Amino acid sequence: MAEVLTSFEDATALAQATPPSTPWAHIRAMRDKLDVSLQTIADGHQNSPIALDDIRAASSLLQRLCLLETDAMLSVPLRLTGGRYGVRHSLATAIVLEFMLTRMGTSPSERRTAINAALTMNLGMHELQEQLYGQAGALSPEQRASVLDHPNVSVALLRGAGLEDRMWLALVTQHHEHLDGTGYPRKLSGDQLWPAAQALMLADRWCAMITERGYRPGAPPDQALQLIVGRASGVANASIGKALSDVLGPYPPGTPVRLVNGEVGMVCRRTYDPSAPVVRVMHPTYGPNGPDGVNRLCIESKLRIETCIPAAELGFPIDNEHLWPATGPL
Ligand SMILES: [Fe+2]
Repeated sequence: MAEVLTSFEDATALAQATPPSTPWAHIRAMRDKLDVSLQTIADGHQNSPIALDDIRAASSLLQRLCLLETDAMLSVPLRLTGGRYGVRHSLATAIVLEFMLTRMGTSPSERRTAINAALTMNLGMHELQEQLYGQAGALSPEQRASVLDHPNVSVALLRGAGLEDRMWLALVTQHHEHLDGTGYPRKLSGDQLWPAAQALMLADRWCAMITERGYRPGAPPDQALQLIVGRASGVANASIGKALSDVLGPYPPGTPVRLVNGEVGMVCRRTYDPSAPVVRVMHPTYGPNGPDGVNRLCIESKLRIETCIPAAELGFPIDNEHLWPATGPL
């Protein structure tokens, strides 16, 4: 992949040489490739350096996309469909985590390792996660035991694949541990928990809560954030809950909303005020003359966001490519 360009001449040359690729095209390709590499490791293949390298490559690309295509990447947890639920969830969690750790001042290389951990944290329940996606009833005792043990199994699978990275393995081990010792599987507490593991846990929870299951819709992003930050006391350091709030705000890109003037649309860009993003309104009456809709800057009182709504209430399809085109070549 080319480096970020600084000169006009280089940019022109690359634009001519490289076909344009949108952030969403990158994300879909990454989802499909991760599906293969995660399955390889989940199947228990010993010494799988190619699968591990594919995961590292995905983390590296994901980090660059978060840097250059911030709004598009923040829309992924709410907009990514297709493929396995577990792969989509890991990818969404990795993205939220990357933004949180950046906010917390974590170095790029440590963030990359944390992304690797987010992508692989649930290998130990790779199949069970798909079952639970569609299961409305309570977990059976066997399922519960598997859930409680899955961080250990994930680590064993990663070690079997040839991974020796101490931080990567520690974050996978710790991604369900709580600051007060009430988590699992080892009931670690306090200083035993890496800050990045606490961030991973909160990102994991938010992404799980806003995502639909086979038997229930996803929670609105603002309510999910409030619930998770409200319950974070004792679970994670307060500064890490704040990082989650700062990164997402109540209405991250990809959130379907209704404005106080009655218009409905989708949040497409953040502004300096997390409660007042830019919303793309595409009312059917705009018809063929306005297929792109209009942007509403929700900072004016008559255009404030009133509430989040289910995507089905928008009344028109959303084209991710259109709403989040490429900022430039990567
Ligand atoms: Fe997990």
